Amino acid sequence: MNKIRAAITAIGGYVPEYRLTNQILETMVETTDEWITSRTGVKERRILKGEGLGTSDMAVEAVNQLLEKRGISADEIDLLICCTVTPDLVFPATANIITDKVGAKNAFGFDLMAACSGFLYGVTTASKYIESGSYKKVVVVGGDKMSSIVDYEDRQTCIIFGDGCGAVLLEPTEEEIGIMDCIMKSDGSGRVHLHQKAGGSVKPASHATVDAKEHFVYQEGQAVFKFAVTNMADVSAEIMERNNLTSDDIRYLVPHQANKRIIDATARRMGLGSEKVMLNIEKYGNTTSGTIPLCLWEWEKELKKGDNLILSAFGGGFTWGSIYLKWAYDAK
Ligand code: UT7
Repeated sequence: MNKIRAAITAIGGYVPEYRLTNQILETMVETTDEWITSRTGVKERRILKGEGLGTSDMAVEAVNQLLEKRGISADEIDLLICCTVTPDLVFPATANIITDKVGAKNAFGFDLMAACSGFLYGVTTASKYIESGSYKKVVVVGGDKMSSIVDYEDRQTCIIFGDGCGAVLLEPTEEEIGIMDCIMKSDGSGRVHLHQKAGGSVKPASHATVDAKEHFVYQEGQAVFKFAVTNMADVSAEIMERNNLTSDDIRYLVPHQANKRIIDATARRMGLGSEKVMLNIEKYGNTTSGTIPLCLWEWEKELKKGDNLILSAFGGGFTWGSIYLKWAYDAK
C-alpha cells in the first residue's frame, strides 16, 4: 500500500469590510504613510467592527466557504483545529464554538496556539491525524482578531496588525502530492520579546492590569525582527536542502506577512525572485495565524496540481517553521 499523505483539497477565507488605512493611522498616532510603507510594506489592514463579534465569526465565513467549494456538508468534518492567539473566550476552545456554529456535529476540535506560526503548526498536526489513517477530513483554521489586543496608541504595533481568517480542508491521498515535509521549531526564551503581560494565570485581569495596558500586545520590534529575519530564512533554506529543491523547483514561497523586509530577506536566501513570492501585506497587514491561509486563498486560482510551495513563518513564542507541499488540485 502506498503511503497516505495529507493534501489541501479546499480553501476558504474572510477579511472584514472595514479598512484601517495608513492615512487614518496618521490621525491616531505620530506616524506617516511613508514610514509605515517603507519599514513594513503595509498600506491598510482590515478591522472586524461590531459588538459581540470575535475570531469564530470570521472563521465561520471561511469554513462555510470551503465546505461549499468542496461540496461537502459540515457533519462530514472529523476534526477542526483552530490556530489563534485571540480566542473568542479564554475557554472553551474557539474550535468548539466554530464547530457548533457551522454545524460540524461529528467533529472534535481544539485550539492550538503558536502565534504567527499557528497555521503551520496546525497543518503539521492535522497532517499527522490524516497520515494515521484514522481521520479523513480535517479543517485547519488560522485567524486572529488582532484589533482586540492591539493598543491603538502604540505606533510600534498598531501599524502592523490586522484582522482576518483563512481555513483549509485536509484529506488523505495516495498520490505524490500534499504535505511532503514539515520542520517546526520553538524557543520559549524568546517570549520576553513578544507577549501579552496580563490575562493569564500568572497575572489575572484586574483594574491595575487594565490601567497599565497589560492586555495588549507587547513587542520589542527590533529584537523580534532580528530573530525573524534569521530564523525564517534559515528554516526555509533547510527545508529546501532536505528535499533537494532548487529555486527553479519552487512555484511559490508563501510567507507569514509580518514585515516585507523579513519576507524579502527570506526570498533572497532561497534564491527566489519577487514573482515567486505571495505578498498581500499591503492590504491586510499582519493577521497572525491568518496570513498564510489568506495568501493561499487569494492565489488559489493560479495554483496547479503538482506546484511546489514552501510555507514559512516566524512568530511569538518564539515559534517558527516551514512546510513543503505539492499543491493537490487545479482551481475550477
Ligand atoms: O508577526 C511575527 C512577529 N513580529 C514581527 O516579525 C515584527 C518584527 N519587527 C518589525 O517588523 C519592526 O521592528 C517594526 C515594524 C515593529 C518596527 O520597525 P523598525 O525598523 O525595527 O523600527 P525601530 O523600532 O528600530 O524604530 C526606528 C525609529 C525609532 O525612532 P528613533 O529612536 O530612531 O528616533 C522609532 O521611535 O522609528 C520610530 N518609529 C516610528 N516612526 C514613525 C517606530 N514606530 C514608528 C512609526 N512611525 N509607526
